[in-house]
Formats: sequence, C-alpha cells, structure tokens
Amino acid sequence: MFQKNISLKPYNTFGINAYAKSFVMVNSIHQLQEIIDKHKDVFILSGGSNILITNNISIPVIHLDLKGKFVTEKEDQNLVYVKALAGENWHEFVLWTLENNFGGLENLSLIPGNVGTSPMQNIGAYGVEIKDVFYELEALEISTGKIKIFKKDKCKFGYRESVFKNIHKGKFIITSVTFQLTKENHQLNTNYGAIQTELEKHQITEPNIIDVSNAIIAIRKSKLPDPKDIGNSGSFFKNPVISVDQFKDLEKEYPKMPYYKISDSLIKIPAGWLIEQCGFKGKRFGEAGVHKNQALVLVNYGDATGKEILDLAKKILQTVSNKFGIDLEIEVNII
Ligand code: EPU
Repeated sequence: MFQKNISLKPYNTFGINAYAKSFVMVNSIHQLQEIIDKHKDVFILSGGSNILITNNISIPVIHLDLKGKFVTEKEDQNLVYVKALAGENWHEFVLWTLENNFGGLENLSLIPGNVGTSPMQNIGAYGVEIKDVFYELEALEISTGKIKIFKKDKCKFGYRESVFKNIHKGKFIITSVTFQLTKENHQLNTNYGAIQTELEKHQITEPNIIDVSNAIIAIRKSKLPDPKDIGNSGSFFKNPVISVDQFKDLEKEYPKMPYYKISDSLIKIPAGWLIEQCGFKGKRFGEAGVHKNQALVLVNYGDATGKEILDLAKKILQTVSNKFGIDLEIEVNII
C-alpha cells in the first residue's frame, strides 16, 4: 500500500522536489481510518497549494484523493447545501456549482488547491471568504479514528485562519466540506475595484454569477502565476494589520501607501506594496524569486529547494521590518 521514496514535486504547487520516505494515495474514508489506526504521526497532503516543503518527510505521507460532489437533501427557501469530498479540485468544484446556477463561490474562482484544505486558512479573494458560504465540514479525528462534524462557529474562521491551523493543527483530517449556496437572487459581490473595471471592459452592466467568475479568472490570470507554468503557493505572506498611530506615522513618509480600514483602531496594509517598495518585485535570486506582477507571491523558477525559497522569504521579512517597522507574517505552512 505504501510506496517508498516518492518525489513530492507533483504534489505541491511550489514544485519543490522533496521526498517522502513512505507515501500512500487514499481514496476512501475506510482506507484512511485503517491507516490512522496504525499510524498516528502522519503528514496529510491534499492539494499541496499552501505548503513549502523545506525537508524530506520521514513520517508517512497520506495523499488525500477522496472524490465526490453532490447536492444534499437539506434545502431552505433560497439555499441549497452542496457537499464535496476533500480531494475534489477547488476550481473544478466552483465551476460545477456555477454550471448548476448555485451562487456564492464565483469570487473564489481559480484558487489553486483542493476542497478539503479550503477551510484550513479560510481561503479568500476579491471580497469573499469561505466563511461567508460555509455550512459545515466533516473531519476524522486522528486520536480516535472517528468522524466529527464542525459547524461554522466551531471552526473559528479569521483572516486566513481557522482552528485547523492552530489549536487543532495536526489533530484532524478534513474529509468533506458542505457549502450553503443561493438558488436564485444571488448576492453578487462586485465591489472589489478590479471586478467592476473588468466587467466594464466587456460592457457587462448586469452581471450574473458566471460573468463575475469570468472577471475574477481574468484578473487572477493577469496578476497571479499559474502553478502549472511556474511553481508558487499564492500569497506567501499575510497582509499585516497595524495600529492607526503607526499608520499615521508611516503615511507622513509614504502618502501613496494603500490601506484598508479594519476598525477605528486598526488598518490593514497590502504586504505586496511593502515588498515592492523594498525593491523585490520581479527579482530573481538563483532558482527562487518574487513574482513580477504581484510581490506577495514567491516563485520557484524550476529547481529551487524549499530552503532557498525560505531564505528569500526571511530576507524579505528582514528588509520590510527594517524599512517600515512592520513584521510580516508567513501565510504558507512551512514543513
Ligand atoms: N500591490 C502593490 N504591489 C504588488 C502587489 C500589490 O503595490 O506587488 C498593491 C496593489 O496595487 C493594491 C493592493 O496592493 O493597491 C492590493 O493588491 P491585490 O488586490 O492584488 O490584493 P492583495 O491584498 O495583495 C489579497 C490576497 C490574495 C487575493 C487578493 C484579491 C492576502 C494575503 N492575499 O492580495 O490572495 O487574491 O487579495 O482578493 O490576503 C492568496 O491568498 O494566495 C491570494 C492570492
């Protein structure tokens, strides 16, 4: 069942050529339970779209390949409940919901990765986060081998955060996620600047969910590198949140600095802007680099090791800290 010394390059979107000492592809919950019965210390690999592997992995690697998506029996007036197993490709799942005219996931089009990992960091883009459409998930508890249900409040979703990234880290394996989507009167979210501009480009004044999805796809393609072409893991850092006082001091020196007000006392600054100001955008350091269109994304030109990418990340952290007095936080899981 387990294969020995397998390269993980095809299984992580950064394209890092690290090795798993033992590796197994799992396509049923029953098989997963059998493995978990014997091995408690395992590494779960799903879409591999939010990890940077900096070492070979000596504990068993389980590649979750649980497939299936369907409309559940639960239904409310304007809501439909759609369930997908963890190994479903995220974007294919989004397209399937749109083909069925279910609204809610259109702004999350083209995000790399699988359904099972989407709640881990509460994926978000263009004004929408998973938590806005999430209903519940099922997860296998490693210590007991039992399936537990997590409703939304139990997941404690925050900006790129959930319990599965902190207090429950390594304790649960998400096996399926159920979303609550609209059947009609979809609540479109087109406020994010670039969406309007993209729709106007195509003279669309009354967009439907497919139009919004197409606009998002076009924006993402223009800014973010496709892991098929160049290894990456999306945003490598989180956008930092600073105090209004710190913001006012910085604004005097950098009046063009973009920002989003979070509350009366907190301001979010785009990390991509900070990194660009430090001169990193589009720069290459050996096999590692900073993407030319979005400085928040680190890239692997082909043969970078995880350590090379991490060294570049550390250089960026240090430079941003020295220039702006802001300590960026890494968003990707470092293995
Ligand atoms: N900016 C720069 N230079 C750059 C990049 C951005 O000056 O190199 C400025 C832009 O001009 C703009 C602002 O920063 O004023 C925001 O840029 P953008 O709209 O590209 O969004 P972001 O804040 O950099 C976040 C998410 C992305 C998500 C976009 C759109 C995080 C960590 N990242 O990026 O998520 O696609 O918003 O919603 O919150 C991901 O998580 O992997 C990811 C790609």
